[in-house]
Amino acid sequence: MSYLVNSVGHIQLNVVDVDAMVRESCDILGLRVTREGPGFVWLSSNGRSAELVLHEASENATRLIGFEAVSEAAVAEAASRVESAGCKLVSTEPSLDCCVTGMRFVTPQGHTFELHGPVETEIYGGRYPTVGMAPLRIDHVNITSPEPSETRNQFETIMGMRLSERMVDDGLSWMRGANRLHHILGIVRGDTGLHHYSWEVAEFSDYCFLGDRLDTIDKNFIWGPGRHRPGDNTFAYYIDACGAMVECAGNMALINDDDRNEPNVITALKRPENVRVMNVWGEPAPLPWREHQFPWAAPEA
Ligand SMILES: [Fe+2]
Repeated sequence: MSYLVNSVGHIQLNVVDVDAMVRESCDILGLRVTREGPGFVWLSSNGRSAELVLHEASENATRLIGFEAVSEAAVAEAASRVESAGCKLVSTEPSLDCCVTGMRFVTPQGHTFELHGPVETEIYGGRYPTVGMAPLRIDHVNITSPEPSETRNQFETIMGMRLSERMVDDGLSWMRGANRLHHILGIVRGDTGLHHYSWEVAEFSDYCFLGDRLDTIDKNFIWGPGRHRPGDNTFAYYIDACGAMVECAGNMALINDDDRNEPNVITALKRPENVRVMNVWGEPAPLPWREHQFPWAAPEA
């Protein structure tokens, strides 16, 4: 099966205090506002029109995760597969007008996902003044699902994603798209929600800068910097102003020999003996990281 999805496209969050979230996203993480209007703000870390979209709401929650298709035609192909994957098609239009095509569906577990055409991008408009860290791009999300193997099947069937690696008990699994990053999607067993959303950093020293910026607002990393074994990427995590977990990640492995790749199955699940199976540098995941979950908003009627 060929890929219909290339990468994560954008993330939409419902947020109670939009101003606080915008302030932190710009001054600490280093995003910029690309558009704002009544009740919404778009942010980006580069020349893309939107990577993080905030909606003023009465609760903090994930509204939807948008994935970027390999082409406009791939969006229609994916839409035709939604029902066969046991999901419900709720729109055949993009949610953002910086995309030409888009479709949204709701899973039986209650996630809302979008597959949209490429986001409008100013290639040479990606640099801007900021006092924040300035990541390169949004690069992956980890969601939580009570039925991880069913969620995996939805992404394989609808978007043509491939499994890169999983724990033998499906407690965690990682899936890739056409950009061949080890994962653009992680699936964690748990109630329906978001575990973290992740931005790619340019340099390892960016974690030092970010940690110091977080210190200026009396915040800190909850795990890292470290290097994950699955994906081989460096990482550091903090909790953002609306309570969602942000990862900054760098140098994720590429799976270039795509057709020959056999998904790795992690069988060493016992803590703390398996620490280096999960973190190359040896610091185990703390409980707040393992238990973190950010809610997912009820699907639109
Ligand atoms: Fe991650």
